[in-house]
Amino acid sequence: MDVLSRVGELRAQGREVLSLCAGEPSSGPAPSVNQAAAELHAGGEALNYTPAAGLPELREAIAGHYERWYDTVVEPGEVLVTTGASGAFVTMFLAAFDVGDRVALARPGYPAYRNILTSLGLEVVEIPCGPETRYQPTPELLDQATAEHGELAGLVLASPANPTGTMVNREELAALSKWCNDRDVLLVSDEIYHGITYPAPEQPDPRGVSAREFGDTAVVISSFSKFWGMPGWRVGWALLPPYLRKSSDALAGNVALCAPRNAQVAAVQAFTEDAYAFGEQQVSTYARNRGILLDAVPNLGWSDVAPADGAFYLYADISKVLGPYADSAAWCAALLEDQGVALTPGLDFDPVAGGSTVRLSFAASQDTVSRAVGRILAFQESLRLS
Ligand SMILES: Cc1ncc(COP(=O)(O)O)c(C=O)c1O
Repeated sequence: MDVLSRVGELRAQGREVLSLCAGEPSSGPAPSVNQAAAELHAGGEALNYTPAAGLPELREAIAGHYERWYDTVVEPGEVLVTTGASGAFVTMFLAAFDVGDRVALARPGYPAYRNILTSLGLEVVEIPCGPETRYQPTPELLDQATAEHGELAGLVLASPANPTGTMVNREELAALSKWCNDRDVLLVSDEIYHGITYPAPEQPDPRGVSAREFGDTAVVISSFSKFWGMPGWRVGWALLPPYLRKSSDALAGNVALCAPRNAQVAAVQAFTEDAYAFGEQQVSTYARNRGILLDAVPNLGWSDVAPADGAFYLYADISKVLGPYADSAAWCAALLEDQGVALTPGLDFDPVAGGSTVRLSFAASQDTVSRAVGRILAFQESLRLS
């Protein structure tokens, strides 16, 4: 957020800033979604609340999406429509856990998990995950965490993950799911980056593997913010195990009353052939940008570059090129001032080792990504010579 506010100041002064900070697409949604929203607004509809669990036609469309992408039958009654994945976290954590429960998650990871869980009085157990496990938890790491901290009530998993972009494959997710089921630990699977993946032999499933493919014991969370390019529309969903449906529905009504009605109506049109094709088109842009960054890595001299299996992030250790700077936050601040390139320093994602890491978001134009690489190389060269 500090970086973003400085980007705003520099742009207001007339400087050209190349931003690889924002974790959001800039494509906008598919034309079918925009058209549905335009028609709704033109019709002057009152936009009253929807049922707390969401519009029935949207719940049905979301359920159908699981058949299309994962060959898995989901009933509309399992779907809770929320104000983005963020709204699902709050509702689900409240519904599923009690004050003092222990919930594990990977470090580095998306900071909101830690912050929301902590604010709800839960104990966060951070599992340090490095390149040897693709920055993802494993049953062995969970055994260790349990031995060290005590019984867990939950595990939050993200695949593809933010900030690393790494994924767990089918066998790994099956093993994690079994580990959780055997111990009555609730698996909360954040699948918000599904669909944004880059084919590789280690990750043969083209969309990502859903925890729902292993049964209905996990909470699956997703959203229209990434593949569908609708971050500001604030609409997402959770798939709920049977025992959480009634309480989550009641809580959802109290937390937000409902997700925005106009976004829900429009989101039904996110499941048309054209809208899927539009999403795929954005993924090919990300794939080109990812290629540009991966090609540049040997010249950049960064290490422990996370494999970037999916999402639109590259996460790396820059300790070898920090030069005179104490940490990646100071390095990023200097890069922004000197070269007008904005990257995200790692501390928010990893309060322990994030002082030496950065995250680049390649949800930008190809031109922005190529020129940013040139400027980063120039910055690093200037540090080497000084
Ligand atoms: C891993 C992850 N989960 C959830 C979210 C929040 O998404 P939403 O816009 O659906 O609230 C983000 C946003 O960047 C994210 O990276």
